[in-house]
Order: sequence, then structure tokens, then C-alpha cells
Amino acid sequence: MYNSMKLPNSKTISIPVVQELAARDPDSVPQRYRREEERLHSITVSDNLSSSIPIIDLSLLSEHKESRQQVMEKLSLACQEWGFFQVVNHGVPVSVLDQMKQVVRDFFQLPLEEKLKCGIQEREGYGQAFVISDEQKLDWSDMLYLVTLPEDVRNMNFWPRRPTNFRETMNDFGMEIQKLSNKLLSLIAETLGLKINSFINPEGKWIQGARMNYYPRCSRPDLVFGIGPHSDPSNITILLQDDEQVGLHIRKDGEWIPVEPISGALVVNIGDMVEVMSNGRYKSIEHLALPNNKTDRISIAVFEFPTKEVQVGPHPDLLDDTHPPLYTTFKRGDFDDNFFQNKLEHKSALQFCKIQS
Ligand code: OGA
Ligand code: NI
Repeated sequence: MYNSMKLPNSKTISIPVVQELAARDPDSVPQRYRREEERLHSITVSDNLSSSIPIIDLSLLSEHKESRQQVMEKLSLACQEWGFFQVVNHGVPVSVLDQMKQVVRDFFQLPLEEKLKCGIQEREGYGQAFVISDEQKLDWSDMLYLVTLPEDVRNMNFWPRRPTNFRETMNDFGMEIQKLSNKLLSLIAETLGLKINSFINPEGKWIQGARMNYYPRCSRPDLVFGIGPHSDPSNITILLQDDEQVGLHIRKDGEWIPVEPISGALVVNIGDMVEVMSNGRYKSIEHLALPNNKTDRISIAVFEFPTKEVQVGPHPDLLDDTHPPLYTTFKRGDFDDNFFQNKLEHKSALQFCKIQS
């Protein structure tokens, strides 16, 4: 029932597998998962705005000029006011999405011993992420994190051999998402009047990681977090989620808005790197996931980020006398070191490079 995980500081820590906890005693929520205080004080869920979350239809880009312009305006507004949108007609085949969800489901249904064959070490593998001490509160989820692209940086020790089609499916999905990610990053740069490759790291300078989340059913979803409030350290994140259950919530104007799944759509959010590169014109959005008391939920979050030697900072074309840099320019590796030594919490990672005014 426990997973022994090796931490970045080479200590080992033993953490329960939430899926096993939930299966053994479906009605209990152990103390370490109870976050009443945080839930009560900082989380007001409001579904008023759920239906206003922008939906970007990429097929309209190739139609006449006017409709392209409308899409670009909608995208610009989505990035500015929401930091978040869903994409439809995105070009990733539905079969690829369905198969990906299936292999993730199949993986989490395997016996624990089988899953532990790719048990987490430091940042990669099966386990719980962002655990740094024996005391901290824990999220109601298990996950599998893999570096997925480019191919030559993969560590296949962490890639499940079962289900037998996992590796091929992950590969195909990762490649498709990469194409979409570059397309979106170029469109986002365009909405800021920048050259289309401004936010795209050149070949050999980017890494794609996929975080596959498993949220077991929880008898008291009002007490816990599936994943607590955080922003992603990526350029952008593309998320594939279950069609049936609402779990993801995004922060807007101080409230938390549930994201209703749209079948076949992908969810996109601005990450910390685009916030920095756009000099704060577009903000990374805080989000969280909650479990539910009916059934389990899965999601697959794909992050694209620069390799550790890349210098990240506000784009020079967005700076002038009236727009001074709001962030320092830093090496991505230094950002990561800071990121992984801390708990995943709100937008605290950005404190690392924020210039205090
Ligand atoms: C993540 C994340 C949300 C979800 O993995 O970074 O925010 O709905 N996931 O699972
Ligand atoms: Ni996230």
C-alpha cells in the first residue's frame, strides 16, 4: 500500500498509494488528506461562468480572412482575461485521444506491484508528486510522470510495459500534442504582435513531459484536493480529461470555476514561461482538481518547457520605457531547481523571477 519514493535530495520517503487507501476503506479520509482550512478559506466554487470559458475552433483559421481575425481576437481575449481555453477541431485525431485515455486507465488498474516497476525516483515515474516532507498535507491522487519528447531524452525505465500498447500510444499522442502545442504557441505570439516563433523553443531546446493523473473516488470530496491550487511551470499546458466527470477548476476573479468537459476537446492553459516571456501580458492561470464521490477520474496534462540551459526572460519587443521588465532573465535549470525543492502552491514558483516594484 506504500510507495517508497526517492526525493531530489536523495532521501527516501514512504507515501501511501491513494488508490489503495480508497479501495481498502472507501468511507475514510485520513487526516493527512484533510484540508478543511484551505478549502474553507480560499475555495469558493462558482459555476456561473462555466459556460463562458472560451472555446477556440481552430478549423476556422483556414477559412476566409474575417473568420481568422475573429478567432485571433477570441484567442487574444482568452489569453488576457482567462489564461485558459478549450480547443476544438484541433487536428489531433479522436482515436489518438481515446486510446491515450484507455491506456492510462488500463495502467492504473494494474496490480500495485506492476505499477511500482516504474516507481517514482526524484521527478519521474509512478507515485505522488511534490512530496518533500513527512508532515505536509497530501493530495487525493496518484500520478505517472514521464519525459516524453524528444525521444533521445526518454528514460524507458519509467515507461510502463503494460498495457502492451502503452508505449506506442504515448509516443503517438506526445507527437500529436507537440504539433498542436507549437501551433498554439505561434498563434499566441501573433496575438501579441510578435514573430510567430517567439515562444517556441528551437529544436533540441525543449522538453515535453506528460503527467497522467488518477483521482480515486473520495467519500468526502469537500475536504480534500485532488491537486491543490497551482500554476504550471510550462510554456503552455495541454490537458486531456475524462468526458464524464468535472474535476478541473480554474481561478477567475477570486472564484473557482469548474471546467465542463467537452467531448473531443483539449484544455489549454498559459504556463509560467509564457507569463514571463510576455512580460505579464498573459498570466499563467491558477487551477486545481477535485475528486468526486461517485467515481474515479483520469486526466493527462502535457507540458512543454525549455531545456535547462535555455535563458528565459521577457521578450525584448515587449519592453520599452513605459513597459519595464517585470521578471528577471534566468536559466531554466535554476527555475526548476527552485521549483522542485518546494511544495506546489499557488503561483509561488514565479516569485523566483519576479522583480519587486
Ligand atoms: C496538472 C493539473 C488538472 C487535472 O496535472 O498540472 O493541473 O484536471 N491537472 O487533472
Ligand atoms: Ni496543472
